[in-house]
Amino acid sequence: MPRKVKYGVDFDIDEEDDDDVWTDYSDNESNVQVEVEENENIFSADEYTKAGVWRCSICTFDNDEGVVACDICGVFRHPMVNIHSNGNKETVPSKFNAYPLDDFVSSSNHLSTVTLKDSIEDSSSSEVVRNRKKLNVILKTTELESSFLELEEAGPLSICESTCSSAIEAKSENVMCTLAKQSLGADSECSKNQIKAETATRRSQYRPEKWMNGNREGTLMQLNLAIVGHVDSGKSTLSGRLLNLLGRISEKEMRKFEKEAKSKGKGSFAYAWALDESAEERERGITMTVAVAYFYSKKYHVVILDSPGHRDFVPNMINGANQADAAILVIDASVGAFEAGIDGNRGQTREHAQLIRSFGVDQVIVAINKMDVVEYSKERFDSIKGQLGTFLRGCGFRDSCLTWVPISAMENQNLVTAASDVRLLSWYKGPFLLDAVDSLQPPVRDVSKPLIMPICDVIKSRSVGQVAASGKVEAGALQCGLKVLVMPSGDLATVRSLERDSQPCDITKAGDNVVVCLQGIDVSHVMAGGVLCHPDFPVAVATHLELKVLMLDVAVPVLVGSQMEFHIHHSKEAARVVKILSLLDSKTGKVSKKAPRCLTTKQSALIEVMLDGAVCVEEFANCRALGRVFLRAYGKTAAVGIVTRVI
Ligand code: GTP
Ligand code: MG
Repeated sequence: MPRKVKYGVDFDIDEEDDDDVWTDYSDNESNVQVEVEENENIFSADEYTKAGVWRCSICTFDNDEGVVACDICGVFRHPMVNIHSNGNKETVPSKFNAYPLDDFVSSSNHLSTVTLKDSIEDSSSSEVVRNRKKLNVILKTTELESSFLELEEAGPLSICESTCSSAIEAKSENVMCTLAKQSLGADSECSKNQIKAETATRRSQYRPEKWMNGNREGTLMQLNLAIVGHVDSGKSTLSGRLLNLLGRISEKEMRKFEKEAKSKGKGSFAYAWALDESAEERERGITMTVAVAYFYSKKYHVVILDSPGHRDFVPNMINGANQADAAILVIDASVGAFEAGIDGNRGQTREHAQLIRSFGVDQVIVAINKMDVVEYSKERFDSIKGQLGTFLRGCGFRDSCLTWVPISAMENQNLVTAASDVRLLSWYKGPFLLDAVDSLQPPVRDVSKPLIMPICDVIKSRSVGQVAASGKVEAGALQCGLKVLVMPSGDLATVRSLERDSQPCDITKAGDNVVVCLQGIDVSHVMAGGVLCHPDFPVAVATHLELKVLMLDVAVPVLVGSQMEFHIHHSKEAARVVKILSLLDSKTGKVSKKAPRCLTTKQSALIEVMLDGAVCVEEFANCRALGRVFLRAYGKTAAVGIVTRVI
């Protein structure tokens, strides 16, 4: 079973910009300068066609000598130098304005229907780069207990959508004007405005090709469903049980899991073993990375993302569950267990609920599990519903988007058919779990926009020069033979084959969880945290960002200079707060105080951060998936936010 590890706040974009936000960060500039000087000797001479500027290989914009990444599209001046440690001096960035795409990607014309499993070398020789490895650094997580009232006040997603779209133009205008105010002359200003106008026109003129809009006959819509909740609440057991009941795990396989689990003295974890594959997970009886599996309901092709509940693995949970369209929040009904999950200091029920809300998930099925332990008591169910309901509303979830289902994963009650236990039957008349899944509203799929697929995992085979990237297609569509731009390296590649639900397919669209086998690209240039995009619409790559953040419960106030862990889609970077621009009124979103000294619990603010390494990023208003961020410090999530400006 494949495993992947894979998030923002849906508050509206504030249109207010400070003109004075472009002051210098002497430290950072000198650092950048040193890096540029160090790399100078390997630049090709033809890049210096104009003194003092370098031309972006992607959008052809003439950038100032001192910047390492293009001001317009964010592509690195020397991607190989900045991004890859091998420092391959032979490789030059793609110049698709200068060369035909086909010249760049060799031998990529024939379409392949070979599955990835066939086309990539066996796992012994292929290098499997899993985010789980990257993220297996154990980060001590304590607890979040903010009420997230600010999220609720930000209003429903639809309100945000309309505010955002109108804000985009004003915001981009501001960015460009401010850019122009920098050390550039009038010519550069004109040139930037012109390019900006051209880019905007190109974006608005983008029309999806016919094949992208076509219906996929006989295929159900994919629903990415995150299974989240406090440690040991039964998420993996529930996932395994569903897979078994729906025929995805055969009885024979189940018997094998049972036997193995029993022999290790972990008999009760038999169903969880279907998802917890690694020896360490099985030994410890906890999930450590997000497990991905599939099943079919009447309405959906459901991709479940079984998340770790242990607080040490919250970064893994973020990295996996941020692909979710909806979520099942699993609650342990046993006395003391529910209370531990909702506890302000250590409970992951709280942190997970806050996180999934800020991933943009608004539909949640609250599965109150282990009802067998409390004798299927209606009183216990109602008590949990009452307490948790108040908290979830505080997180910004609307009552109409919450479905409460009492279940027992262990005793197979109320999962794929109505309950059979009379103790439950006597008082519960609502839907069973699978029914509740089918009642979820279909997620909105953005096929009308250019391709964006954040890369979650990468599977490499250097010997045959093949590389496969997995992740969720956030916008646009992919088909075999298509040329894609791999960011942040800026290299072009050809889609050799596609795999959905572990099955080869020719076309995948926004919302699909896929594995894309690429060819015509150096395998080292494809990395988790990167993004596959449309060659004409490269995503930005940046280290300096303006964010609108909502502080959660923090013991230590955030100051200018505070070091934080920055999470964005599948990227994680060390970050430093370089400016606190303003405090925002949590009700109106308007500036309530300029340049405050620090940020504390529940405050909403506009800040600037500087990252140690560049990330693929877009303003939230342009692309939600690439514009949602989390800031963590001292082992817990300190703030959730959105990117308001890529600087
Ligand atoms: P993490 O992934 O580590 O957060 O745990 P989890 O939420 O996936 O829990 P898991 O499925 O590993 O189950 C933890 C324990 O709860 C196991 O011993 C299960 O047998 C038990 N369990 C799960 N569901 C039920 C249930 O419905 N009833 C009872 N009695 N026990 C259950
Ligand atoms: Mg688990």
